[in-house]
Amino acid sequence: MPVKLGVNIDHIATLRQARGIGAPDPVAAAQACLAAGADLIVCHLRQDRRHIQDDDLFRLKKSLGGHIHLEMACVPEMEKIALKARPDSVCLVPESPNELTTQGGLSLAGPGAGRVEKIVKSLSRAGIGVSLFVDPDAQALRTAHKIGADTVELCTKAYAEAGGAGRQAQELENIHVACLLARELKLHIHSGHGLDYRSAPPVARIDGMECLNIGFSIIARAVFTGLEKAVADMKKLI
Ligand code: PXP
Repeated sequence: MPVKLGVNIDHIATLRQARGIGAPDPVAAAQACLAAGADLIVCHLRQDRRHIQDDDLFRLKKSLGGHIHLEMACVPEMEKIALKARPDSVCLVPESPNELTTQGGLSLAGPGAGRVEKIVKSLSRAGIGVSLFVDPDAQALRTAHKIGADTVELCTKAYAEAGGAGRQAQELENIHVACLLARELKLHIHSGHGLDYRSAPPVARIDGMECLNIGFSIIARAVFTGLEKAVADMKKLI
């Protein structure tokens, strides 16, 4: 099975927010990404609404119908919006107010797990696929499985940012090992965060990898090549 590509369009909305006028429109960007071979459109509706807005999500739904993968914090406000907007799938992520981007996988130890489990059950009951963004860590995978998630998105931040070939090989090995366990637990496996045109292919080649969610590197390249080519080039590589 070819590995799917989810393109994160938050960075298009960041650019739009910089001027407060309608351009560039994330919905038009999503259409261009799908036309160029993206399988999913990923967006993160943050609690501070710094890029994607509620209206973007509803317009995406109206315009695309499907292919929408929403990243969101595990909070009742977002649960309510997801149940109303009905994306195809949701990825629950940790979120802190001043972070530049998501800083790692969900913490599933202690009381936080109960809150995650409640939202997993509520979204699943509504027919929305739910994945948990987790570090490539055995305990996190076992808890994700216990909580009832059908999919995990393995955080590739440590791999993508590892300095030196040796450290990067070790981080890639950690993702390999996590995939073995995820497959044993019959979890679907996605990965993402910080992947670019050089670091994505080795992750895509791991047995059982079903989807890579990539944003920044594609949008950054699109400034020079155009969005369609940036998406098509990544799709070819993975
Ligand atoms: N997956 C998740 C869960 C994320 O939070 C992000 C960042 O929004 C991405 C993938 C994409 O990361 P990047 O923009 O670094 O490719």
